Amino acid sequence: MDIRGKTVLVTGSNRGLGRTFVKALLEAGAGKVYAAARDLKGLNILGAVPIELDITDAASVANAAATCPDVDVLVNNAGFLKYGSLLAEDSIRSLREHFEINTVGTLRMASAFAPVLARQGGGAIVNILSVLSWLNIEHSGPYSASKAGQWSLTNGLRNELRAQKTLVIGVHPGYIDTDMAAGVQASKTSPEVVVQMTLEALRESREELIIDDAGRWVKSTLSEVNAGYLSPT
Ligand SMILES: NC(=O)c1ccc[n+]([C@@H]2O[C@H](COP(=O)([O-])OP(=O)(O)OC[C@H]3O[C@@H](n4cnc5c(N)ncnc54)[C@H](OP(=O)(O)O)[C@@H]3O)[C@@H](O)[C@H]2O)c1
Repeated sequence: MDIRGKTVLVTGSNRGLGRTFVKALLEAGAGKVYAAARDLKGLNILGAVPIELDITDAASVANAAATCPDVDVLVNNAGFLKYGSLLAEDSIRSLREHFEINTVGTLRMASAFAPVLARQGGGAIVNILSVLSWLNIEHSGPYSASKAGQWSLTNGLRNELRAQKTLVIGVHPGYIDTDMAAGVQASKTSPEVVVQMTLEALRESREELIIDDAGRWVKSTLSEVNAGYLSPT
């Protein structure tokens, strides 16, 4: 897909990867970019159209779909991570919170915008997933489970939306240099690189994008007896 002249909506665009998406899309010649965020304070990106949106709130999502009837590309970027053990006292609450934002929120947005995309001739949905869709490492339990669910529903949505010609892309980054990975001492990809690779995947209509070596390694071991997710380091 050629992004030039297209209308794009990016969730969670007040900071991190989402903010980088909005700026890069405008630079790449998108016709209109809706910068969606649950708090519009500080969301002043020149040329973008701000829109208030909490992806856990059905009314807010329905309002966004009604207010933005010209969207060609939906970028489901908004996400949530809180480190914690699956066996911690609050793990069920934490699991629900992760699923409500990362998994259910993504599905809620895809459902609300599927008719919009159909009217636009198909368009595309970009879901920002993670290497942790395939790995559950120390302290990432609830987040990883929600990202695995988000990966699965990305694959299901791709099948269900094929008939209306909507391209569904799953993006699997390792660590990205944003607030979410601020406490992590490991190699990180810049948000600018993740965004440029995603725009290239859109251009080439690729359905899956792995960003870095960590992702390439874990994906390559999935079919092995000693798959990476069995004993991650
Ligand atoms: N950073 C990484 O290492 C990494 C790695 C792999 C994948 N990812 C994924 O990349 C995406 C972007 O993350 P990031 O690194 O940019 O994280 P971030 O800096 O923590 O930003 C998260 C964004 O999501 C928004 N958000 C959270 N809950 C929301 C809700 N209910 N409704 C609307 N917006 C909501 C946040 O808004 P508020 O400001 O209002 O909280 C913020 O704009 C996420 O899906 C994340 O899981 C990140």
